[in-house]
Amino acid sequence: MELLIVNDYAAMSYKAAQFLASQVILKPECVMGLATGSTPEGLYKELVKMYQMGLIDFEKVTAFNLDEYVGLEAEHPQGYKSYMYNHFFKHVNIDPTNRHIPDGNAAQLDAECEAYDYAIKRAGGIDIQVLGIGRNGHIGFNEPDLKFEAETHVVALDEKTIRDNARFFSAIEQVPRYAISMGVKTIMQARKIILLASGKEKAEAVYGMLYGDITPTCPASVLQLHPNVTVICDFQAATLLKK
Ligand code: PGA
Repeated sequence: MELLIVNDYAAMSYKAAQFLASQVILKPECVMGLATGSTPEGLYKELVKMYQMGLIDFEKVTAFNLDEYVGLEAEHPQGYKSYMYNHFFKHVNIDPTNRHIPDGNAAQLDAECEAYDYAIKRAGGIDIQVLGIGRNGHIGFNEPDLKFEAETHVVALDEKTIRDNARFFSAIEQVPRYAISMGVKTIMQARKIILLASGKEKAEAVYGMLYGDITPTCPASVLQLHPNVTVICDFQAATLLKK
């Protein structure tokens, strides 16, 4: 794993945007795996700036998001469809038919998960996957567990994740208890992975991911087995890595 420690959130976002921009320039029809949460907001801002400057063109890009809550109404402001639209999609020219987010309101959630993996395969697999990391070491919504879930699946959210995400909702009771998440195999099959971490509350998870045992109790630790991962973290997230 390549580790880049940068000064702050802004530097992390800019560095990450450089990786994605290079990918789009090298392969305009690339497939991006995208993440939500507070962490990648700055990355999307940088990509929008680069697009507006004419540096990159998303016309032929296909995007697959990592996850979505189960049971939030389609246009809910905290749903990831709204997040992606507001932070990224409405500002760039990714074809709406090439924007994919799991449908957390599908009548048959298992069929939705299977169809999602199939769509990723049909698109040729993910060229570059963006990841954040949860305080509990989750990637996507792959929560600490006794085993790794390979494919896209429905997951019961961890209490820690529910508490962490309560900041986006008016009350903790409003946070959905379930989500659809790409599985670990789906993520690991991406050709390149960029993981972003910012803030001291991520320091323990970052340490576990890089130097802990490979274990489903720290899902991000599986990335130690991927041949092409770049971790970009700010000084605060790297606190435990310093001598
Ligand atoms: P955050 O979430 O970016 O909102 O901290 C990261 C994650 O849970 O993957």
